[in-house]
Amino acid sequence: MSSRRTTFVTLAAAGLAAAVISGPSLAVAAPDQPGTPRYGEGAAGAGDPYFPLAGNGGTDVLHYDLDLEYTPPAAAPAPLEGHLAGVATIDLLATADLDRFNLDLRGLTATAVTVAGKPAHFEQVENELVITPRPKLKAGTSAQVVVSYGGTTTRPTDIEGALYGWVTTRDGAMVVSEPDGSATWFPVNDHPTDKSTYSFEITVPEGLVAVANGLLTGSTTEAGRTTWTWDAPDPMAAYLATATVGNFVLDQYTAANGTPIIDALDADRPATAYADLALTSDMLVFFESLYGPYPFNSYGAIVDDDSVGYALETQTRSFFSRNAREGTIAHELAHQWMGDQVSPERWADIWLNEGWATYSEWMWDEHRGRDTAAQTFDEFMATPAEDEEWDFVVADPTPLGLFAGPVYDRGAATLHALRVKIGDDAFFALARTWLERFGGGTAGTRDFIGLAEEVSGQDLDAFFEAWVYTPSKPASW
Ligand code: TRP
Ligand code: ZN
Repeated sequence: MSSRRTTFVTLAAAGLAAAVISGPSLAVAAPDQPGTPRYGEGAAGAGDPYFPLAGNGGTDVLHYDLDLEYTPPAAAPAPLEGHLAGVATIDLLATADLDRFNLDLRGLTATAVTVAGKPAHFEQVENELVITPRPKLKAGTSAQVVVSYGGTTTRPTDIEGALYGWVTTRDGAMVVSEPDGSATWFPVNDHPTDKSTYSFEITVPEGLVAVANGLLTGSTTEAGRTTWTWDAPDPMAAYLATATVGNFVLDQYTAANGTPIIDALDADRPATAYADLALTSDMLVFFESLYGPYPFNSYGAIVDDDSVGYALETQTRSFFSRNAREGTIAHELAHQWMGDQVSPERWADIWLNEGWATYSEWMWDEHRGRDTAAQTFDEFMATPAEDEEWDFVVADPTPLGLFAGPVYDRGAATLHALRVKIGDDAFFALARTWLERFGGGTAGTRDFIGLAEEVSGQDLDAFFEAWVYTPSKPASW
């Protein structure tokens, strides 16, 4: 539908509330007939009903090169505010004929934008950076967009009030952005449906370490500042990118499966905080036996001395708040396959991330000789049908329910029940086919059900109706 157009004048005038409502219907302008450009505006959102303005229409980002200069807060009692100055060099493809397009940017100020080497007009409307390229961008052409930006960094929060994004700390920053916090530190198509490769050059005061995704390619110190460069060539959803800064010691080794490991351990934490990371190598071997080859060029953990209150499966480099404990280490590692290699198509599909990661913890426990997955399932099913825990639609948790308990435990129980129903062979073939078919991209609940039916040869509509679409305790399936 190329005729539905909403201008940003309207968006700005109507304010954020109206923009949120109209977000998903902002169609991407597309030519009616190929070869006849009909230039229009890229939509302000990727079309996810939970976060209508996250991501953008009309562009596909191929690569982000993030050149960041960061200065953490001055010594206490100064406020926890840092300073970030960035140059984002973004290689993108126009997927529509664009006379304007957006990137997401929140709380930082853009100071210059060029598109294909030419200065472009730009304005910031709420959390949207609206760019007017001249010449216009024809569908199918690629362009390099360079955004210079910066400002004061704080401690942003998500819609639930949890810390996320570029979270300023005493000695650096914790950078974990699920679901839509990447816009707090770089101009971005902040939705998993647009995966990209990344490279980083992060300059921090000498003595601090900047830890990003992928492999460390160098560090050079000049005039009291160290630049850390990282290369992350595996396609990645924006929420999984990190550039965490702190007083880290890097521990590098090769795991038993051959994966290069780089752990960043906060020198201000006791060794007991991260002793369980010694299990990483065994876990890689175990999860490879279930899911197939570890999908990325490296792995490792970041253990920071500050806390966002949770851990995150930042791609290739899982983040832990203060302590990395066995169960959480298994959970975040399993996410590298389930969530990172295959990411949610829509945020409503989050149970596929958390259900698999939690079920992976259950299987790891069994592997270690603790409760079997069947025992953990039985314990979970002992929850009485009257319990409000069951009053939850797993496949539509609502934006405020993304990280609610049932997404994790009922999600995991769904997978165990499915395993019992279709048998181990079909269940693990499903896991591997899921990763092979959708790896490097995204997939949703309907894709999962379709693939489960394809692999098992069973009609599973009633099963999934009971487990993920009905807000009551499954009684028969
Ligand atoms: N994805 C994280 C995990 O399960 C959890 C997470 C992200 C989270 N953001 C959150 C949990 C906010 C609570 C609040 O590994
Ligand atoms: Zn998780």
